[in-house]
Amino acid sequence: MYVCLCNGFTDRQVRGVAPNVKCSAAGVYRALGVRPQCGKCVPTVREILRDLAQVTSDDGLASAASPA
Ligand code: FES
Repeated sequence: MYVCLCNGFTDRQVRGVAPNVKCSAAGVYRALGVRPQCGKCVPTVREILRDLAQVTSDDGLASAASPA
């Protein structure tokens, strides 16, 4: 789905660059070679980054809790 209509990027593109931007919304825009214009997409970008961080942290807990 399109996240940013001003710059025309999608959630897939955000997820694609997320590992390289250290949970920074500004890093996402930089990595995609664009700048926020109206800014309406910034909360969605942050939400995607938060979701990815949560999944990563849950994975870490699951593997730490499993018996060896
Ligand atoms: S929708 Fe992303 S800057 Fe406007």
